Amino acid sequence: MGADSTILDAPPPGAAADWTVPQAWAGYTAEEHAVWDHLFARQSAMLRGRVVPDFVAGLDMLRMSKPGIPDFEELSARLMAATGWRVVAVPGLVPDAIFFEHLANRRFVAGRFIRRADQIDYLQEPDVFHDVFGHVPLLAQPVFADYMQAYGEGGLRAMRHGAIDRLARLYWYTVEFGLIRTGEALSLYGAGIVSSFGESTFALDDPSPHRIGFDLKRVMRTRYRIDDYQQNYFVIDSFDDLLRQTLEADFAPLYADLAGAPDIDPGILLESDQIFSRGTQRHT
Ligand SMILES: [Fe+2]
Repeated sequence: MGADSTILDAPPPGAAADWTVPQAWAGYTAEEHAVWDHLFARQSAMLRGRVVPDFVAGLDMLRMSKPGIPDFEELSARLMAATGWRVVAVPGLVPDAIFFEHLANRRFVAGRFIRRADQIDYLQEPDVFHDVFGHVPLLAQPVFADYMQAYGEGGLRAMRHGAIDRLARLYWYTVEFGLIRTGEALSLYGAGIVSSFGESTFALDDPSPHRIGFDLKRVMRTRYRIDDYQQNYFVIDSFDDLLRQTLEADFAPLYADLAGAPDIDPGILLESDQIFSRGTQRHT
């Protein structure tokens, strides 16, 4: 799903030095393609009117010449023409340095396996549906595409400052679980939300979570949970604003500032927060 650390410290057998593997598209079964088609249809219907319009436009990128799971070669050729990104397959979670290096070079690493039909709504590790349906549409959006590269470059810097945990929170609360203002309303854009049937309702409509205005330092101080829906979501004004804040952040002084700042638990509000909706926190 992101900058998670991994148990392995060398590429597994069959993987290249940069941890990539062939997608082996021809090896997918009809059943696996059917799982993709089912999830694609259900989730694109669910997201109508709930997701940022850029994502809907980007979904066209995934409508391939062959049905079923997208062939990364064809997908990458399209994405390359749009924003210069490619999608490469990896065998599972990769080390932080490898992950950041790929992003900094406009390569998005994706799992190639797909969940089984009996795991439609529950999955521990990101599969090709999460990685491709969730992430690729916004990689076709030029500003978001730049943000993802900036994140990868920021990751390589954060490693030198021993600040990976801080930076991982930025990824979590934007790329995976971000909300965005669209006029007076809020919309979804985070891949962890848009690829989840349950959370794509919860994040927008449920009274439980807090919805808080995005602030870079605040986000970097906020812990997150990986075992349930989020207790707080952060709302950006626009992709332009997110990119600008990230690029303008001078990371060395930023991390020095944060060194003395305590972490914030999920579900906690601060007086300085810009609150879009104060949650009941009933769902915990
Ligand atoms: Fe992800």
